[in-house]
Amino acid sequence: MGMEQLETTSAKQPEPNGNTNVPLLELHDISKQYGLNKVLNNVSFHVNRSEILALLGDNGAGKSTIVKTISGVVRPDSGMLLWDGKAVTLHAHTDAAELGIETIYQDTALVDSMTIARNIFMGRELVGPLGFLRMKEMREIASHVLKTIVAIEGIDSPDKLVGSLSGGQKQAVAIARAVHFKRTLLVLDEPTSALAVRATEALFEYLRALRTQGLSSVLVTHNLYDAYRICDRFVVMARGEVVFQATQKETSVEELTEHVSRG
Ligand SMILES: Nc1ncnc2c1ncn2[C@@H]1O[C@H](COP(=O)(O)OP(=O)(O)OP(=O)(O)O)[C@@H](O)[C@H]1O
Ligand SMILES: [Mg+2]
Repeated sequence: MGMEQLETTSAKQPEPNGNTNVPLLELHDISKQYGLNKVLNNVSFHVNRSEILALLGDNGAGKSTIVKTISGVVRPDSGMLLWDGKAVTLHAHTDAAELGIETIYQDTALVDSMTIARNIFMGRELVGPLGFLRMKEMREIASHVLKTIVAIEGIDSPDKLVGSLSGGQKQAVAIARAVHFKRTLLVLDEPTSALAVRATEALFEYLRALRTQGLSSVLVTHNLYDAYRICDRFVVMARGEVVFQATQKETSVEELTEHVSRG
């Protein structure tokens, strides 16, 4: 099965001119087991270009494990990932980042003892010719991102220490970081669970703007109304398997609710 799939998929390699209908990302029969617990069981779905895809499912369905697989943090036991039609093996988060995949995790990783600006640029600091950090520029960009993209109550200065922020404010900083380093694929694991209404709307507006620029997002959320409002397509998981897939036009919030709760 795996090999046949490999061949049919690689038969539609991107044209040399880059004009292609190949999905941006394809997952084929991804499985993962922790001890006796089969957490992912032959998960297959794809992400198109210029698309916001919702990854839905009840607690423990396997969504975060899929997110970690896409971002190179979890190595699947079997199955295949295709990026732009080509098989890829992600050994680490940096491999995914290099492809252009940026992830915002459910439990966000920031450094409390650093400022907002430093956290946004962590690992990708702007450096001058002599190796000095271009702090002024980083602070200005951080300010701009925080004002325009993830406008959030209580964050007015890029110089605030992240340790002094609330959970939702921290998540906003992580989102600011991801959206500033505009990637081909943005993966968001429950980004809005700790965000206020205004920040959620700003984020959705931003995802729409990315889509018009040809970029894609995978949004994991428990809020099916939000998902239905913003996403083009839905993948529902239950007990480590894909149980339902549909486009926005093909389905409804009621149907999605039924699939998520029935599993
Ligand atoms: N590192 C791990 N070791 C062992 N079991 C794990 C590990 N990570 C996840 N699991 C198990 O895998 C299953 C799926 O977890 P996952 O975090 O992917 O679910 P989820 O769909 O993201 O759920 P939620 O909506 O609650 O975030 C759960 O049963 C969980 O206990
Ligand atoms: Mg999760």
